[in-house]
Amino acid sequence: MAGGSRFADWSCCLHLLLLLLLGVGIRGYEVTKARIEVFYPKGFEVSIPDEEGISLFAFHGKLNEEMEGLEAGTWARDIVKAKNGRWTFRDRTTALKPGDTLYYWTYVIYNGLGYREDDGSYVVNAYSGNNTSANTPRPPVVPVVTTPWSPPADPDIDIRVGCTTPQTEVNGAPTRCAGQLVFVDEFNAAKLDPGKWKAERRFSGQPDYEFNVYVDDAPDTLCLTNGHVALSTNTMRKHFHKGSDASLDLGDKCTGVANTHDCVRNGRTMNDGLPPMVTAQFSSKDFSFKYGRVEVRAKMPRAQWVTPQIWLQPKHHRYGVDDYRSGQLRIAYTRPNGANLDLYAAAVLFADEPLRSVKNCLKPGTGDSSEDWSDSFHNYTLEWTPRELRWLVDGKEWCVQGSDKGAFSETTAAGKRLPQAQKLEEGSGLAPFDQEFYLTFGLSVGGFNEYQHVVKPWNERAPQAQKAFWKDVKKNRDHWLDEGHMKIDYVKVYSL
Ligand SMILES: *[C@@H]1O[C@H](CO)[C@@H](O)[C@H](O)[C@H]1NC(C)=O
Ligand SMILES: *[C@@H]1O[C@H](CO)[C@@H](O)[C@H](O)[C@H]1NC(C)=O
Ligand SMILES: *[C@@H]1O[C@H](CO)[C@@H](O)[C@H](O)[C@H]1NC(C)=O
Repeated sequence: MAGGSRFADWSCCLHLLLLLLLGVGIRGYEVTKARIEVFYPKGFEVSIPDEEGISLFAFHGKLNEEMEGLEAGTWARDIVKAKNGRWTFRDRTTALKPGDTLYYWTYVIYNGLGYREDDGSYVVNAYSGNNTSANTPRPPVVPVVTTPWSPPADPDIDIRVGCTTPQTEVNGAPTRCAGQLVFVDEFNAAKLDPGKWKAERRFSGQPDYEFNVYVDDAPDTLCLTNGHVALSTNTMRKHFHKGSDASLDLGDKCTGVANTHDCVRNGRTMNDGLPPMVTAQFSSKDFSFKYGRVEVRAKMPRAQWVTPQIWLQPKHHRYGVDDYRSGQLRIAYTRPNGANLDLYAAAVLFADEPLRSVKNCLKPGTGDSSEDWSDSFHNYTLEWTPRELRWLVDGKEWCVQGSDKGAFSETTAAGKRLPQAQKLEEGSGLAPFDQEFYLTFGLSVGGFNEYQHVVKPWNERAPQAQKAFWKDVKKNRDHWLDEGHMKIDYVKVYSL
């Protein structure tokens, strides 16, 4: 009976393996089914093979009792390092007996995203290495232990203690524990990780008509260096060797709608010519989440009219597509104010003033050395729960929005309500921020709505706004370009 069931298990495993292999090509990563080895007289191991991209393996299990969903279990452990080509959870004290059933689930962080093998179960029918009969195990002679076991150099983290049910969801699925890292990029590689990020390549357009093209493969706008990603502004002329009235086709790598003004423009037939600037923007299009804590360590640009983008953008446009009707969260941005930089945070609900800025927070620049936003790295954090949004800088809270019911749907400015107010009332009290959002980083220059309330060298209603902008900044262009850099050291998202 034992031999027969083992054989059956194997053919089933092969079948599963084939499915998994097929799945990898079609659907991205799937967690390899764990290999379980049981030792006599005690101890067992649960492991998966190492693979490029895996940064964590977690095992949650219980003996002879089914797991209730994603509960932590009797064993709950994060393994942070592969050894000898495998990610291995090791128990050295439990004596499993044939006939025992191990119920479990595993979790793997692969290219920064979490994946699970759910509903695992394993019936012990033999000890590993010794093909003892399942029903009458004949224990082998226990070898004399000569070297005492010592803990590994980097102890695995036991997360069983204090594992509370999280509110965070990632890509439509619940997370397993509050306080867990669910996404991270420290930008230590030579290039942006294509498994995490997608860079834009398109002209700007609705609703802000930034004065720049976003380009994707250009070290003069985006490069990874010294463990951070550096974003810069450059000129159209230097990057594409084109003047304002040339025509420009961004080719088949364009990320906008093909054959539209997203991808092809002829400066000669447009009042305002081609945009004078190029910059970069990239997003975590395959990682989105609802509720959580985002921390970004960054150095802001200082140049006038250069806007740093450290955003959360809506994955599904549940409350409308145009004019930020489904919301945009700005984790932090700065603007020059004389010799100082003002710091802002924002929940954007509409493109046009006065509604656009009504849920902004402003921390006026004081010139104090603890607020050298563009000279040093600072930690910018957004804590997003189903009840409210809290912004922190260097661990200190400085902005809170949305603690009341209908906090955003009831927004008014100068007697105006949001056009999507009624739709927002269908959502939770925090709508539109009750849906999944993804991360976006980038730089933009000028634009129509971003600087509506500001004295500036262009007029958004004038047909030649970006020409007027360029005429003004070009006088001091080298210095201005020098100050138009942003650096990001890391981004981390934790479940809450
Ligand atoms: C274990 O024993 C069974 C039958 O006794 C045999 O068919 C099988 O090949 C053995 N497996 C190993 C790994 O030795
Ligand atoms: C298998 O049994 C032999 C003795 O029969 C023993 O020396 C060896 O340690 C056992 N291996 C395992 C993995 O239990
Ligand atoms: C910012 O975060 C880093 C590491 O994540 C930490 O070392 C540093 O102390 C933090 N800085 C402040 C001011 O909180």
